[in-house]
Amino acid sequence: IPVESFDLVIFGATGDLARRKILPGLFRRFCAGQMPPEAQIVGAARSEMDDTGFRDLVREAIEEFGGGTPREPGQVDAFLERVAYEAVDAKGDSGWEALLGRLRDENVRAFYFSVGPGLFGDLAERLRKFGLASPESRIVVEKPFGHDLESARALNRELAQYFDETQIYRIDHYLGKETVQNLMAVRFGNVLFEPLWNAQFVDHIQITVAETVGVGGRGGYYDESGAMRDMVQNHLMQLLCLIAMEPPARFEPDAVRDEKLKVIRALDPVEPHHIVRGQYDADDKQPGYRAHVENPRSRTESFVALRAAISNWRWAGTPFYLRTGKMLRGRTSEIVVTFKDAPHSIFGAEAGRHRNVLVIRLQPNEGMTLDVTIKEPGPGGMRLLDVPLDMTFADALGPDGAEMPDAYERLIMDVIRGNQTLFMRGDEVEAAWAWTDPIIDGWERRGEVPKPYDPGSSGPEDALMLMHRDGRRWRDIK
Ligand code: BG6
Repeated sequence: IPVESFDLVIFGATGDLARRKILPGLFRRFCAGQMPPEAQIVGAARSEMDDTGFRDLVREAIEEFGGGTPREPGQVDAFLERVAYEAVDAKGDSGWEALLGRLRDENVRAFYFSVGPGLFGDLAERLRKFGLASPESRIVVEKPFGHDLESARALNRELAQYFDETQIYRIDHYLGKETVQNLMAVRFGNVLFEPLWNAQFVDHIQITVAETVGVGGRGGYYDESGAMRDMVQNHLMQLLCLIAMEPPARFEPDAVRDEKLKVIRALDPVEPHHIVRGQYDADDKQPGYRAHVENPRSRTESFVALRAAISNWRWAGTPFYLRTGKMLRGRTSEIVVTFKDAPHSIFGAEAGRHRNVLVIRLQPNEGMTLDVTIKEPGPGGMRLLDVPLDMTFADALGPDGAEMPDAYERLIMDVIRGNQTLFMRGDEVEAAWAWTDPIIDGWERRGEVPKPYDPGSSGPEDALMLMHRDGRRWRDIK
């Protein structure tokens, strides 16, 4: 779908996120023909640099993080011609006039704040003060959106002084993932699932986002946040909302976001015995979490597993188990919907217990499987077997469809189109903090120390127990 011509200014353009995700993503959109001829990208950061210097940096970023983007000769150079740079001082007045001089009146303006939340207010203020932003301009803000409810409220208030809510795009890149959007297509585009999508038929739901990486070079940030703030408050909550929400009347920003907000507000507080925190240990190959963050007494969690309950008509009685962590056995993100037993087994006890399980895989190999019970082939009598109906999206779409846009590039294009459906509204973010704050406060009050777990495992033993106690088990992390 074509987009309007745009000027995209990236603040924090020399930072990690810009290099890894934003710039290579924009290059891919350029290659896909989605950058109109008059559109341009202006990098902005504190360091003094000319256009050529920045273009070199962008070229390196594309080479390092551009992945297998199919490209024709000269495409990188053609893209770099659309890229410029201006040094600006986020807390001062220098550079802003020059930045304004770069922008074209006829283009849609989007300003991407790829910086810490401490600078959001300064940037917003200066965009207004120096006349860069108009009522049609958009700003894109990255997570973390605050540290708790109070700071998120303060940020919302600060941004609201300069921009209307319809201009603010709070990114949660999980909402840009193909399968996450597919969740809505599957639920609301088929008649098959929705009649069963409730506590009467669903035994429980699991949401797992497991990573094999540790905290990497982000120890400073991570140790202040932990898995609850870094992953649960945003990515896992968003997945939970999309799985649990009522059908919106239309696929429109506020219709969708109203329904998501209702889910968050219907969440019960989590009891301390329904949550397990973990922190990865050292093994013979590498140091543990505390060494990675250079804080020998750190009590920050790199793993969380919890049991959530949604108190509404649809979900009362169906638990939602959420789990995420670093340094785990595999990189698996999936949502598992386990349906209840058939009301009566006509095949007797020896046929065993068979259940329909729908697995929605976010990564790797985005796709879905649905376990269906059939007769075991052969003459052995009526023995039952669960087999997966498998749909890997890359297979279904064929070789051309296999190249799916990355979450960031898709979301940036939505900003240009002015579509806020896949972005978080201020009240949603606040409601999510209102649910996570008491959990985190409780840990701090009780001085809780996370349980150690081995790198390459599925997290602490207690996380397994969390489900065993309920007579259920996690799906293996592969
Ligand atoms: C980020 C978190 O938001 O998401 C990281 O800050 C995490 O800690 C990352 O590694 C995971 O994203 P993805 O797309 O690799 O699953």
